Amino acid sequence: MQALLAILADGRFHSGELLGSALGLSRSAVWKRLQALQAETGLVVDKVRGKGYRLQRPLSLLDEELITAALPELDVCVHQTVTSTNSLAQEYAAANTARKPVLVLAEKQTQGRGRRGRSWVSPYAGNIYASLVYPLASGLQQAKGVSLVMALAVLRTLQSRGLAALSLKWPNDVLCGNKKISGILLELLGDPSDACQLIIGLGINVNMREEQQAIEQPWTSLAAELGVMLDRSALVVDLAKHLIAHLKRLEGEGFSQLRDEWMGFSAWQGQDVQLSSGDTVIAGRLSGVDEDGSLLLEIDGHQQRFSGGELSLRLAHDS
Ligand code: BTN
Repeated sequence: MQALLAILADGRFHSGELLGSALGLSRSAVWKRLQALQAETGLVVDKVRGKGYRLQRPLSLLDEELITAALPELDVCVHQTVTSTNSLAQEYAAANTARKPVLVLAEKQTQGRGRRGRSWVSPYAGNIYASLVYPLASGLQQAKGVSLVMALAVLRTLQSRGLAALSLKWPNDVLCGNKKISGILLELLGDPSDACQLIIGLGINVNMREEQQAIEQPWTSLAAELGVMLDRSALVVDLAKHLIAHLKRLEGEGFSQLRDEWMGFSAWQGQDVQLSSGDTVIAGRLSGVDEDGSLLLEIDGHQQRFSGGELSLRLAHDS
């Protein structure tokens, strides 16, 4: 299937005859393989008499060889369809005796997971679905604020592609003009107070277009903002480099040294916001984050700190 996809990825027409001879298949076998490809990936292939077959839109496929060669510090594993790269990363982490960072990538997720029990829309070859397994020798203490710093690393990667109007919404959403472009789901394997492994799950909207997906919250993608299709493999490489560099800085310097940089991109600074946890909603004015990455809200003239994975922030006047 991958050989067929590699030919079709350019979005141009390819005759059944040409596909057959490139793949060593009869024309009817090509047809069957195209049916299987559509069923597995959810991609749509147009068939036009006299011209052949083409994908409805061109694709940028993940190039495992290129990504592996560019990231010698990491073990890179590229998959086609998975339930969730975070779930798979849990398995890699459990078997990670070498204690080397592992980057798990997939073209598609069937059960992509977001924060607070939400699902994460993950169409085939549309976006980046990545989970970085990162061993911590002496516990989570060593990586306080990691969730915020990972969002900063994503923001820097997006900036490197020329994206402007980027901001960070506590704890780890990256927004572009108030629309979500990236989300992070952080999980942990092992003892948080001793040797453990972080699983940093990253979703970045890359080539997905508005007309393709209905998502309940406002969202955008690199392609929608820049008007061009992006090379996902090159983007993955830059992302991984930014993530590792930021993790090393965090371990070496601590979040207090990265706080000002994060605050420079803090969305909704000084605005009225609502913080929700389940059915509980707290209203306040956004003051920023403290030295360990907790959220600071001014409530009735007093500064209060909040932290925890189940919290969600929104603008007070948003519906
Ligand atoms: C959020 O709710 O904002 C977090 C979204 C995280 C999505 C990514 S995609 C790769 C990894 N695998 C998952 O199942 N989730 C994360």
